[in-house]
Amino acid sequence: MSEDHTHVQEFFGIRAAGWDSRFPDDGPAYAAAVAELGLREGDRVLDAGCGTGRALTPLRAAVGASGVVVGADLTPEMLQAAVRAGRDRDGRLLLADVSALPLRSASLDAVFAAGLIAHLPRPDENLRELRRVTRPGGTLALFHPIGRAALAARQGRQITPDDLRAEPNLGPLLAGSGWRMTSYVDEDSRFLALAVRVD
Ligand SMILES: C[S@@+](CC[C@H](N)C(=O)[O-])C[C@H]1O[C@@H](n2cnc3c(N)ncnc32)[C@H](O)[C@@H]1O
Repeated sequence: MSEDHTHVQEFFGIRAAGWDSRFPDDGPAYAAAVAELGLREGDRVLDAGCGTGRALTPLRAAVGASGVVVGADLTPEMLQAAVRAGRDRDGRLLLADVSALPLRSASLDAVFAAGLIAHLPRPDENLRELRRVTRPGGTLALFHPIGRAALAARQGRQITPDDLRAEPNLGPLLAGSGWRMTSYVDEDSRFLALAVRVD
């Protein structure tokens, strides 16, 4: 277990039980973001860093009973909270690190990742791993239910120009990891960057 893992697990482990009640009104924002992935009946989708599984219900609704929904997270307490909330009915939960996913190459149509990228110690490598499990032409959504400025204010900090999710940084980061950014929105009510796997 690396130091990075331990830090993430400690940070989110103590927050897991109260996670959903802290952000009770985010549901519609998740549903709207999932809608922009363009999923179809029968598609296969991963929620990377799924936490308590807040995206799993809209993802299941988008792919239907014939689709495949997988939620992967590194923090056991987050997955336990997902089970308590009954979200394991909407998707298969995996205790896994996005740096080495136990999934076959090109086995997915899309990856949804909410609030994940800022916590990755090696985002370029990790985005490359997300690309590996996605089929050519498949899509990636990097989402947060509030924008960068609103999140920074909530956390009592300023956004700096080196912020990974700033548009001038994120586009090249995605391009270097085998993704092409196709849209970028950063407003108070949400952050959503969409990308397509390129070959
Ligand atoms: C800010 S929370 C967001 C959780 C959920 N996606 C949501 O929107 O409510 C970030 C989540 O990413 C997970 N995480 C961080 N690094 C990870 C990694 N390398 N592999 C898998 N999950 C990771 C954490 O355990 C945590 O549950």
